[in-house]
Amino acid sequence: MHGKTILLIIGGGIAAFKALELVRELRRSGARVLPVLTENGARFVTPLSLAALAGEPVRASLWDLEDEAAMGHIQLSRAADLVVVCPATADLMARAAGGHANDLAATLLLATDTPVLMVPAMNVRMWLHPGTQRNISVLRSDGITVMLPDDGEMACGEFGPGRLPEISAIMAAIADQFGNKPLAGRHALVTAGPTHEPIDPVRFIGNHSSGKQGFAIAAALAELGAQVTLVAGPVHLPTPAGVRRVDIVTARDMQAACAAALPADIAVMVAAVADWRAEAAGQKLKKDGGAPPALALVENPDILAGIGHHAQRPALVVGFAAETSNLLANAAAKRVRKGADWIVANDVSVGVFGADANHVHLVTAAGNEDWGPATKQAAAQRLAQRIADHIGAAP
Ligand code: CTP
Repeated sequence: MHGKTILLIIGGGIAAFKALELVRELRRSGARVLPVLTENGARFVTPLSLAALAGEPVRASLWDLEDEAAMGHIQLSRAADLVVVCPATADLMARAAGGHANDLAATLLLATDTPVLMVPAMNVRMWLHPGTQRNISVLRSDGITVMLPDDGEMACGEFGPGRLPEISAIMAAIADQFGNKPLAGRHALVTAGPTHEPIDPVRFIGNHSSGKQGFAIAAALAELGAQVTLVAGPVHLPTPAGVRRVDIVTARDMQAACAAALPADIAVMVAAVADWRAEAAGQKLKKDGGAPPALALVENPDILAGIGHHAQRPALVVGFAAETSNLLANAAAKRVRKGADWIVANDVSVGVFGADANHVHLVTAAGNEDWGPATKQAAAQRLAQRIADHIGAAP
Protein backbone atom coordinates (compact mmCIF):
# COMPACT_ATOMS: atom_id res chain seq x y z
CA MET A 1 0.00 0.00 0.00
CA HIS A 2 3.03 2.17 -0.30
CA GLY A 3 2.14 5.62 -1.61
CA LYS A 4 -1.62 5.12 -1.16
CA THR A 5 -3.70 7.62 0.77
CA ILE A 6 -6.66 6.34 2.75
CA LEU A 7 -9.37 8.58 4.13
CA LEU A 8 -10.51 6.73 7.24
CA ILE A 9 -13.91 7.67 8.66
CA ILE A 10 -14.50 6.36 12.15
CA GLY A 11 -18.16 6.06 13.15
CA GLY A 12 -19.60 6.02 16.65
CA GLY A 13 -19.71 2.40 17.75
CA ILE A 14 -17.97 0.33 20.39
CA ALA A 15 -15.74 -1.15 17.64
CA ALA A 16 -14.27 2.33 17.01
CA PHE A 17 -11.36 1.51 19.32
CA LYS A 18 -10.31 -1.24 16.90
CA ALA A 19 -9.93 1.41 14.18
CA LEU A 20 -6.80 2.56 16.03
CA GLU A 21 -5.25 -0.83 15.33
CA LEU A 22 -6.29 -0.46 11.69
CA VAL A 23 -4.54 2.93 11.49
CA ARG A 24 -1.37 1.35 12.83
CA GLU A 25 -1.52 -1.54 10.35
CA LEU A 26 -2.18 0.78 7.44
CA ARG A 27 0.76 2.98 8.31
CA ARG A 28 2.95 -0.05 8.79
CA SER A 29 2.09 -1.11 5.25
CA GLY A 30 3.18 2.27 3.90
CA ALA A 31 -0.20 4.00 3.51
CA ARG A 32 -0.94 7.57 4.52
CA VAL A 33 -4.08 7.79 6.67
CA LEU A 34 -6.27 10.90 6.81
CA PRO A 35 -8.52 10.34 9.85
CA VAL A 36 -12.07 11.67 10.20
CA LEU A 37 -13.97 11.17 13.40
CA THR A 38 -17.75 11.50 13.68
CA GLU A 39 -19.16 13.25 16.75
CA ASN A 40 -20.12 9.89 18.24
CA GLY A 41 -16.88 8.27 17.12
CA ALA A 42 -15.16 10.78 19.40
CA ARG A 43 -17.06 9.26 22.35
CA PHE A 44 -15.13 6.01 21.80
CA VAL A 45 -11.67 7.15 20.69
CA THR A 46 -9.98 10.43 21.45
CA PRO A 47 -8.80 12.71 18.65
CA LEU A 48 -5.45 12.85 20.44
CA SER A 49 -4.72 9.11 20.23
CA LEU A 50 -6.00 8.99 16.66
CA ALA A 51 -3.85 11.93 15.54
CA ALA A 52 -0.81 10.45 17.26
CA LEU A 53 -1.21 7.09 15.52
CA ALA A 54 -2.12 8.56 12.13
CA GLY A 55 0.54 11.27 12.22
CA GLU A 56 -2.08 13.55 10.69
CA PRO A 57 -4.57 16.03 12.12
CA VAL A 58 -8.00 14.58 12.91
CA ARG A 59 -10.91 16.22 11.15
CA ALA A 60 -14.20 16.11 12.93
CA SER A 61 -16.35 19.04 11.89
CA LEU A 62 -17.70 20.60 8.72
CA TRP A 63 -17.52 23.94 10.42
CA ASP A 64 -13.90 24.08 11.53
CA LEU A 65 -12.49 27.20 9.89
CA GLU A 66 -8.87 26.11 10.32
CA ASP A 67 -9.49 22.67 8.78
CA GLU A 68 -11.43 24.20 5.91
CA ALA A 69 -8.66 26.69 5.23
CA ALA A 70 -6.03 23.91 5.24
CA MET A 71 -8.03 21.55 3.02
CA GLY A 72 -11.72 22.12 2.20
CA HIS A 73 -14.04 19.17 2.71
CA ILE A 74 -14.66 18.66 -1.02
CA GLN A 75 -10.91 18.56 -1.65
CA LEU A 76 -10.48 16.21 1.33
CA SER A 77 -13.11 13.84 -0.06
CA ARG A 78 -11.05 13.48 -3.23
CA ALA A 79 -7.57 13.52 -1.73
CA ALA A 80 -7.54 9.78 -1.13
CA ASP A 81 -7.16 6.65 -3.25
CA LEU A 82 -9.74 4.91 -1.07
CA VAL A 83 -12.27 5.90 1.56
CA VAL A 84 -12.67 3.39 4.38
CA VAL A 85 -15.51 3.69 6.88
CA CYS A 86 -14.64 1.69 10.00
CA PRO A 87 -16.71 1.03 11.91
CA ALA A 88 -19.65 1.78 9.61
CA THR A 89 -22.54 2.14 12.01
CA ALA A 90 -26.18 1.53 11.08
CA ASP A 91 -26.83 5.26 11.30
CA LEU A 92 -23.86 6.29 9.16
CA MET A 93 -24.80 3.73 6.49
CA ALA A 94 -28.42 4.94 6.56
CA ARG A 95 -27.29 8.52 6.08
CA ALA A 96 -24.90 7.57 3.28
CA ALA A 97 -27.63 5.50 1.57
CA GLY A 98 -29.98 8.46 1.87
CA GLY A 99 -27.46 10.90 0.40
CA HIS A 100 -27.40 13.03 3.55
CA ALA A 101 -24.76 15.65 4.21
CA ASN A 102 -25.47 16.54 7.81
CA ASP A 103 -21.98 16.09 9.20
CA LEU A 104 -18.43 15.94 7.86
CA ALA A 105 -18.43 12.13 7.42
CA ALA A 106 -21.71 12.05 5.45
CA THR A 107 -20.67 15.05 3.36
CA LEU A 108 -17.36 13.41 2.45
CA LEU A 109 -19.17 10.23 1.40
CA LEU A 110 -21.53 12.27 -0.76
CA ALA A 111 -18.79 14.37 -2.34
CA THR A 112 -16.16 11.73 -2.96
CA ASP A 113 -15.35 10.29 -6.38
CA THR A 114 -12.99 7.62 -5.05
CA PRO A 115 -13.95 4.02 -4.19
CA VAL A 116 -15.51 3.49 -0.76
CA LEU A 117 -15.15 0.44 1.48
CA MET A 118 -17.51 0.15 4.45
CA VAL A 119 -16.72 -2.11 7.38
CA PRO A 120 -19.91 -2.53 9.38
CA ALA A 121 -20.09 -3.28 13.08
CA MET A 122 -23.25 -3.11 15.14
CA ASN A 123 -25.65 -5.01 17.33
CA VAL A 124 -26.95 -8.20 15.68
CA ARG A 125 -30.60 -7.01 15.64
CA MET A 126 -29.58 -3.72 14.07
CA TRP A 127 -27.57 -5.61 11.44
CA LEU A 128 -30.45 -7.97 10.61
CA HIS A 129 -33.07 -5.21 10.58
CA PRO A 130 -34.68 -4.84 7.12
CA GLY A 131 -33.87 -1.12 7.23
CA THR A 132 -30.13 -1.80 7.53
CA GLN A 133 -30.23 -4.55 4.90
CA ARG A 134 -32.14 -2.22 2.57
CA ASN A 135 -29.55 0.52 3.09
CA ILE A 136 -26.76 -1.94 2.35
CA SER A 137 -28.32 -2.89 -0.98
CA VAL A 138 -28.67 0.78 -1.84
CA LEU A 139 -25.02 1.40 -0.95
CA ARG A 140 -23.91 -1.59 -3.01
CA SER A 141 -25.94 -0.45 -5.99
CA ASP A 142 -24.27 2.95 -5.59
CA GLY A 143 -20.95 1.21 -6.11
CA ILE A 144 -19.82 1.03 -2.48
CA THR A 145 -18.18 -2.16 -1.21
CA VAL A 146 -19.75 -3.24 2.08
CA MET A 147 -17.93 -5.99 3.99
CA LEU A 148 -19.86 -8.58 5.95
CA PRO A 149 -19.42 -8.42 9.72
CA ASP A 150 -18.14 -11.40 11.67
CA ASP A 151 -20.34 -13.75 13.66
CA GLY A 152 -19.73 -14.08 17.35
CA GLU A 153 -20.28 -12.70 20.78
CA MET A 154 -20.92 -8.99 20.83
CA ALA A 155 -19.99 -6.29 23.32
CA CYS A 156 -23.69 -6.03 24.23
CA GLY A 157 -23.75 -9.71 25.21
CA GLU A 158 -25.79 -10.92 22.21
CA PHE A 159 -24.54 -13.45 19.72
CA GLY A 160 -24.64 -13.38 15.90
CA PRO A 161 -23.45 -11.33 12.93
CA GLY A 162 -22.40 -7.77 13.69
CA ARG A 163 -18.86 -7.92 15.02
CA LEU A 164 -16.21 -5.88 13.26
CA PRO A 165 -14.21 -8.22 10.96
CA GLU A 166 -10.66 -9.03 12.06
CA ILE A 167 -8.14 -6.30 11.24
CA SER A 168 -6.32 -8.76 8.96
CA ALA A 169 -9.56 -9.29 6.97
CA ILE A 170 -10.05 -5.53 6.69
CA MET A 171 -6.46 -5.12 5.51
CA ALA A 172 -7.05 -7.87 2.92
CA ALA A 173 -10.23 -6.14 1.71
CA ILE A 174 -8.32 -2.86 1.42
CA ALA A 175 -5.48 -4.57 -0.46
CA ASP A 176 -8.08 -6.14 -2.73
CA GLN A 177 -9.23 -2.64 -3.69
CA PHE A 178 -5.69 -1.92 -4.87
CA GLY A 179 -5.06 -5.49 -6.07
CA ASN A 180 -4.38 -6.72 -9.58
CA LYS A 181 -6.47 -3.95 -11.03
CA PRO A 182 -4.90 -2.61 -14.22
CA LEU A 183 -7.60 0.07 -14.47
CA ALA A 184 -7.34 1.24 -10.84
CA GLY A 185 -7.42 5.02 -10.68
CA ARG A 186 -9.02 5.25 -14.15
CA HIS A 187 -12.46 6.67 -14.68
CA ALA A 188 -14.60 4.99 -17.33
CA LEU A 189 -17.83 6.42 -18.68
CA VAL A 190 -20.23 3.85 -20.13
CA THR A 191 -23.64 4.47 -21.72
CA ALA A 192 -26.16 1.64 -22.00
CA GLY A 193 -29.73 0.83 -22.90
CA PRO A 194 -32.22 2.70 -25.05
CA THR A 195 -33.45 6.25 -24.66
CA HIS A 196 -37.14 7.09 -24.56
CA GLU A 197 -38.27 10.23 -26.34
CA PRO A 198 -41.68 11.43 -25.20
CA ILE A 199 -44.43 12.10 -27.74
CA ASP A 200 -46.89 13.19 -25.09
CA PRO A 201 -47.17 12.46 -21.34
CA VAL A 202 -48.09 8.79 -21.98
CA ARG A 203 -46.29 7.82 -25.21
CA PHE A 204 -42.67 7.67 -26.30
CA ILE A 205 -40.37 6.66 -29.14
CA GLY A 206 -38.06 3.86 -27.98
CA ASN A 207 -36.13 0.86 -29.26
CA HIS A 208 -35.40 -2.76 -28.36
CA SER A 209 -32.05 -2.23 -26.66
CA SER A 210 -31.90 -4.37 -23.50
CA GLY A 211 -28.87 -2.67 -21.94
CA LYS A 212 -27.24 -6.08 -21.33
CA GLN A 213 -24.10 -5.39 -23.36
CA GLY A 214 -23.44 -1.98 -21.78
CA PHE A 215 -24.08 -3.29 -18.25
CA ALA A 216 -21.72 -6.23 -18.89
CA ILE A 217 -19.02 -3.81 -20.06
CA ALA A 218 -19.50 -1.57 -17.02
CA ALA A 219 -19.16 -4.67 -14.79
CA ALA A 220 -16.05 -5.91 -16.63
CA LEU A 221 -14.33 -2.50 -16.40
CA ALA A 222 -15.16 -2.26 -12.67
CA GLU A 223 -13.72 -5.74 -12.15
CA LEU A 224 -10.45 -4.50 -13.61
CA GLY A 225 -10.47 -1.69 -11.06
CA ALA A 226 -11.89 1.20 -13.06
CA GLN A 227 -14.14 3.69 -11.38
CA VAL A 228 -17.17 3.38 -13.65
CA THR A 229 -19.98 5.85 -14.28
CA LEU A 230 -22.79 4.01 -16.06
CA VAL A 231 -25.32 6.31 -17.70
CA ALA A 232 -28.29 4.02 -18.23
CA GLY A 233 -31.47 4.46 -20.20
CA PRO A 234 -34.72 2.88 -19.01
CA VAL A 235 -33.88 -0.80 -18.42
CA HIS A 236 -34.65 -3.20 -15.59
CA LEU A 237 -31.18 -4.53 -14.87
CA PRO A 238 -29.37 -4.65 -11.53
CA THR A 239 -26.47 -2.25 -11.08
CA PRO A 240 -23.17 -4.13 -11.38
CA ALA A 241 -21.03 -4.19 -8.22
CA GLY A 242 -18.74 -1.22 -7.84
CA VAL A 243 -20.44 0.85 -10.53
CA ARG A 244 -21.92 4.33 -10.10
CA ARG A 245 -25.19 4.42 -12.03
CA VAL A 246 -26.97 7.49 -13.37
CA ASP A 247 -30.45 6.72 -14.72
CA ILE A 248 -31.74 8.89 -17.53
CA VAL A 249 -34.66 8.76 -19.93
CA THR A 250 -34.03 10.90 -23.02
CA ALA A 251 -31.02 11.40 -25.31
CA ARG A 252 -30.62 14.93 -24.06
CA ASP A 253 -30.60 13.70 -20.43
CA MET A 254 -27.95 11.16 -21.45
CA GLN A 255 -25.86 13.87 -23.10
CA ALA A 256 -26.04 16.05 -19.97
CA ALA A 257 -25.18 13.11 -17.67
CA CYS A 258 -22.18 12.22 -19.85
CA ALA A 259 -20.92 15.81 -19.89
CA ALA A 260 -21.30 15.96 -16.10
CA ALA A 261 -19.29 12.73 -15.73
CA LEU A 262 -16.21 14.15 -17.49
CA PRO A 263 -13.27 14.08 -17.12
CA ALA A 264 -12.89 10.38 -17.89
CA ASP A 265 -9.98 8.29 -19.16
CA ILE A 266 -12.20 5.90 -21.09
CA ALA A 267 -15.61 6.29 -22.74
CA VAL A 268 -17.53 3.30 -24.05
CA MET A 269 -20.76 4.39 -25.68
CA VAL A 270 -22.98 1.36 -25.96
CA ALA A 271 -26.39 3.00 -25.68
CA ALA A 272 -28.87 2.76 -28.53
CA VAL A 273 -29.65 6.45 -28.47
CA ALA A 274 -32.83 7.47 -30.30
CA ASP A 275 -31.69 9.41 -33.35
CA TRP A 276 -34.78 11.62 -33.33
CA ARG A 277 -37.14 13.09 -30.79
CA ALA A 278 -40.58 14.57 -31.22
CA GLU A 279 -41.70 17.97 -29.99
CA ALA A 280 -43.56 16.46 -27.03
CA ALA A 281 -47.16 17.60 -26.55
CA GLY A 282 -47.96 18.89 -23.06
CA GLN A 283 -51.29 17.04 -23.05
CA LYS A 284 -52.15 13.50 -24.11
CA LEU A 285 -52.89 13.49 -27.86
CA LYS A 286 -56.56 12.56 -28.44
CA LYS A 287 -58.22 10.83 -31.35
CA ASP A 288 -60.69 13.43 -32.51
CA GLY A 289 -61.95 11.65 -35.60
CA GLY A 290 -59.66 13.63 -37.89
CA ALA A 291 -56.31 12.71 -39.42
CA PRO A 292 -53.75 11.03 -37.08
CA PRO A 293 -51.27 13.52 -35.63
CA ALA A 294 -48.14 14.08 -37.72
CA LEU A 295 -44.97 13.73 -35.65
CA ALA A 296 -42.45 16.43 -36.44
CA LEU A 297 -39.08 14.85 -35.57
CA VAL A 298 -35.96 16.73 -34.55
CA GLU A 299 -32.49 15.13 -34.64
CA ASN A 300 -31.00 14.28 -31.25
CA PRO A 301 -27.44 15.23 -30.36
CA ASP A 302 -24.90 12.52 -31.17
CA ILE A 303 -23.44 11.78 -27.76
CA LEU A 304 -20.54 9.66 -29.01
CA ALA A 305 -19.50 12.30 -31.54
CA GLY A 306 -19.81 14.96 -28.82
CA ILE A 307 -17.43 13.00 -26.56
CA GLY A 308 -15.14 12.07 -29.49
CA HIS A 309 -14.63 15.73 -30.33
CA HIS A 310 -14.83 17.13 -26.80
CA ALA A 311 -12.22 19.48 -25.35
CA GLN A 312 -11.98 17.02 -22.43
CA ARG A 313 -11.91 14.01 -24.74
CA PRO A 314 -11.13 10.78 -22.85
CA ALA A 315 -7.86 9.14 -23.90
CA LEU A 316 -9.77 6.19 -25.35
CA VAL A 317 -13.20 6.56 -26.94
CA VAL A 318 -15.05 3.42 -27.99
CA GLY A 319 -18.32 3.41 -29.91
CA PHE A 320 -20.65 0.69 -31.04
CA ALA A 321 -22.15 0.27 -34.45
CA ALA A 322 -25.32 -1.68 -34.90
CA GLU A 323 -25.62 -2.45 -38.58
CA THR A 324 -27.85 -4.60 -40.72
CA SER A 325 -25.67 -4.34 -43.88
CA ASN A 326 -22.10 -3.41 -44.91
CA LEU A 327 -21.03 -3.97 -41.30
CA LEU A 328 -17.31 -3.24 -41.51
CA ALA A 329 -17.44 -0.39 -44.04
CA ASN A 330 -20.20 1.39 -42.10
CA ALA A 331 -18.39 0.86 -38.82
CA ALA A 332 -15.09 2.19 -40.19
CA ALA A 333 -16.85 5.31 -41.53
CA LYS A 334 -18.63 5.78 -38.20
CA ARG A 335 -15.32 5.53 -36.34
CA VAL A 336 -13.86 8.46 -38.24
CA ARG A 337 -17.06 10.53 -38.36
CA LYS A 338 -17.70 10.26 -34.63
CA GLY A 339 -14.10 10.79 -33.50
CA ALA A 340 -13.89 7.34 -31.89
CA ASP A 341 -10.68 5.32 -31.53
CA TRP A 342 -12.44 1.99 -31.79
CA ILE A 343 -15.82 0.80 -32.93
CA VAL A 344 -17.30 -2.48 -31.79
CA ALA A 345 -19.33 -3.49 -34.81
CA ASN A 346 -22.34 -5.62 -34.28
CA ASP A 347 -24.46 -7.34 -36.91
CA VAL A 348 -28.05 -6.75 -35.82
CA SER A 349 -29.63 -8.27 -38.92
CA VAL A 350 -29.78 -11.53 -36.93
CA GLY A 351 -31.78 -10.16 -34.01
CA VAL A 352 -29.36 -9.64 -31.10
CA PHE A 353 -31.49 -7.20 -29.15
CA GLY A 354 -32.25 -8.77 -25.80
CA ALA A 355 -30.21 -11.88 -26.67
CA ASP A 356 -27.30 -13.01 -24.50
CA ALA A 357 -24.84 -13.53 -27.37
CA ASN A 358 -23.74 -11.77 -30.55
CA HIS A 359 -20.97 -11.67 -33.14
CA VAL A 360 -18.73 -8.61 -32.88
CA HIS A 361 -15.81 -7.16 -34.79
CA LEU A 362 -13.39 -4.61 -33.37
CA VAL A 363 -12.69 -1.84 -35.86
CA THR A 364 -9.61 0.26 -35.12
CA ALA A 365 -7.33 2.56 -37.13
CA ALA A 366 -5.18 -0.54 -37.78
CA GLY A 367 -8.01 -2.56 -39.31
CA ASN A 368 -10.66 -5.08 -38.28
CA GLU A 369 -10.58 -8.02 -35.91
CA ASP A 370 -13.26 -10.67 -36.02
CA TRP A 371 -14.00 -11.63 -32.43
CA GLY A 372 -16.40 -14.36 -33.50
CA PRO A 373 -19.63 -15.32 -31.78
CA ALA A 374 -19.50 -14.83 -28.01
CA THR A 375 -21.78 -14.12 -25.11
CA LYS A 376 -22.24 -10.47 -24.29
CA GLN A 377 -20.42 -11.08 -21.02
CA ALA A 378 -17.43 -12.69 -22.78
CA ALA A 379 -17.30 -9.88 -25.34
CA ALA A 380 -17.45 -7.37 -22.48
CA GLN A 381 -14.57 -9.02 -20.63
CA ARG A 382 -12.49 -9.20 -23.78
CA LEU A 383 -13.13 -5.54 -24.54
CA ALA A 384 -12.34 -4.49 -20.95
CA GLN A 385 -9.06 -6.43 -21.01
CA ARG A 386 -8.20 -4.91 -24.38
CA ILE A 387 -8.90 -1.45 -22.96
CA ALA A 388 -6.68 -2.20 -19.95
CA ASP A 389 -3.85 -3.38 -22.24
CA HIS A 390 -4.17 -0.26 -24.38
CA ILE A 391 -4.30 2.15 -21.42
CA GLY A 392 -1.40 0.35 -19.75
CA ALA A 393 0.69 0.57 -22.94
CA ALA A 394 -0.11 4.28 -23.55
CA PRO A 395 2.82 6.63 -22.87
N1 CTP B 1 -24.70 7.26 -30.57
C1 CTP B 1 -24.72 8.32 -29.71
N2 CTP B 1 -25.66 9.29 -29.83
C2 CTP B 1 -26.58 9.24 -30.82
C3 CTP B 1 -26.56 8.16 -31.72
C4 CTP B 1 -25.62 7.18 -31.57
O1 CTP B 1 -23.89 8.38 -28.80
N3 CTP B 1 -27.47 10.20 -30.91
C5 CTP B 1 -23.63 6.27 -30.43
C6 CTP B 1 -24.05 4.89 -29.98
O2 CTP B 1 -24.01 4.78 -28.58
C7 CTP B 1 -23.01 4.02 -30.65
C8 CTP B 1 -22.70 4.75 -31.92
O3 CTP B 1 -23.09 6.10 -31.72
O4 CTP B 1 -21.82 3.96 -29.91
C9 CTP B 1 -23.33 4.25 -33.17
O5 CTP B 1 -24.68 4.16 -33.07
P1 CTP B 1 -25.56 3.69 -34.32
O6 CTP B 1 -27.00 3.71 -33.88
O7 CTP B 1 -25.03 2.44 -34.91
O8 CTP B 1 -25.23 4.85 -35.33
P2 CTP B 1 -26.02 6.09 -35.82
O9 CTP B 1 -25.29 7.30 -35.46
O10 CTP B 1 -27.42 6.02 -35.35
O11 CTP B 1 -25.91 5.92 -37.38
P3 CTP B 1 -26.93 5.29 -38.41
O12 CTP B 1 -28.28 5.36 -37.80
O13 CTP B 1 -26.73 6.16 -39.58
O14 CTP B 1 -26.43 3.89 -38.64
